Amino acid sequence: MASLTIRQLDDRLKKLLRLRAARSGRSVEDEVRTILRAAADESGTDVPGPFEPPAPKSAGRAAAAPDTKRVLLIIGGGIAAYKSLDLIRRLKERGIAVRCVLTKAAEHFVTPLAAGALAGEKVFTDLFDPAGEFDVGHIRLARETDLVVVAPATADLMAKMANGHANDLATAALLATHAKILLAPAMNPLMWFNKATQRNLAQLAADGVLTIGPNEGEKAESGERGTGRMAEPLEIAAAAEKLLAASADKPLAGKRMLITSGPTHEPIDPVRYIANRSSGKQGNAIAMAAAAAGADVTLISGPVNLPDPTGIKLIKVETAREMLEAVERTLPVDIAIFAAAVADWRVANAGEQKIKKKAGQATPDLLLTENPDILSTISHRKSKRPKLVIGFAAETENVAANAKDKLARKGCDWILANDVSPQTGIMGGDSNTIQLVTAEGIEPWPPQSKQDVAAMLVARIAAEIADK
Ligand SMILES: Cc1cc2nc3c(=O)[nH]c(=O)nc-3n(C[C@H](O)[C@H](O)[C@H](O)COP(=O)(O)O)c2cc1C
Repeated sequence: MASLTIRQLDDRLKKLLRLRAARSGRSVEDEVRTILRAAADESGTDVPGPFEPPAPKSAGRAAAAPDTKRVLLIIGGGIAAYKSLDLIRRLKERGIAVRCVLTKAAEHFVTPLAAGALAGEKVFTDLFDPAGEFDVGHIRLARETDLVVVAPATADLMAKMANGHANDLATAALLATHAKILLAPAMNPLMWFNKATQRNLAQLAADGVLTIGPNEGEKAESGERGTGRMAEPLEIAAAAEKLLAASADKPLAGKRMLITSGPTHEPIDPVRYIANRSSGKQGNAIAMAAAAAGADVTLISGPVNLPDPTGIKLIKVETAREMLEAVERTLPVDIAIFAAAVADWRVANAGEQKIKKKAGQATPDLLLTENPDILSTISHRKSKRPKLVIGFAAETENVAANAKDKLARKGCDWILANDVSPQTGIMGGDSNTIQLVTAEGIEPWPPQSKQDVAAMLVARIAAEIADK
């Protein structure tokens, strides 16, 4: 029989073993013996071994279809916690995946076993559980969800949330989430109308936290009547479903995005400039599509003849150097799209005053010097580099090959290549034909309007973000 040396195991496995041994109060060797004994006793070979390391993502979670919506249900320590078990069922009936966190107080009212059996996955209770933290952790609990529902939301949980406490798993996850939070408060009417609770409620509303209920009616524990009864599971499930549907329309909600657009004007003198035929239509369309998808958009635009888009922060610039400066000022962002047709050169000897045409004098020579390369500068930043940097390549020949070369040279993540030869009518026109170049390959997109290109790009970005 082969011998096994613990020292030869990989570090991850050793760490897991040490954690298990510490928890069971055994030496690591004894823990290994126990595990092997248990494995040998196991008659079925398809049972996952106790050693099985946690899956890299969503450990303990049944694999959900990619478009399945996820709710993190935080159950607080109130008598209404029993109704939250029904809420799990109601959410699941709607095809929503539910992951539960129970506060310590909640465990006095319902068991993790019951919540876990209904949710169909592991229930989390302890901020300082080494295995839990190693496996999923409060940050992942907070991030891997589309909505957080707190039901029942106790007076205590509301007070902690209003004041930013994070001294247990529930409050730490609540503080670390980007997702919308829906509270279903439940408490005695005196507790509900207490000035402190009402103050906390007002603070939470100002912080963007949503509430459902409490309803009026009989309280389960005391038979008292009044406001403080938790909204019914069906009501909470319907509200959650509605919120999840709204968030599906805003796949870029919470994302900061920077988009450059239009040409730059490089002065020859105070009245003349070098420019190009870029209209800014494509960049503006992307900015509007991204804003419609919920992104917080800053559009940095060169001089264009387009109406200012609404609901978008707009910074107007003239030259490439001004554009770079505005881009740097806007960082950090999550996604940067460089759609502007930035002039490669500027006039080194631009006149301070209007250059005069004088009879008999030779025409002036314009001396060109290179402009900063905005796409490359931002792509190569050591700090504050956006997670996704997307450039455009306007080419008149060898479109795909030049774009692939540009992707490597500039260090960006994606390039949208288009053929801007005069016969295509793309520069200044209303349609565009894109080839998306990524590290994985080239994706030809159909000829379509610049609005449709923008919508397709935003959908592609949303999918990329969801994957990560
Ligand atoms: C029997 C019983 C019922 C309770 N019901 C509620 C309740 O409905 N609402 C509430 O806010 N607190 C209620 N509490 C008090 C909470 O359990 C207590 O404030 C606890 O610290 C809440 O912890 P948590 O907010 O971490 O879940 C109840 C306590 C007991 C003993």
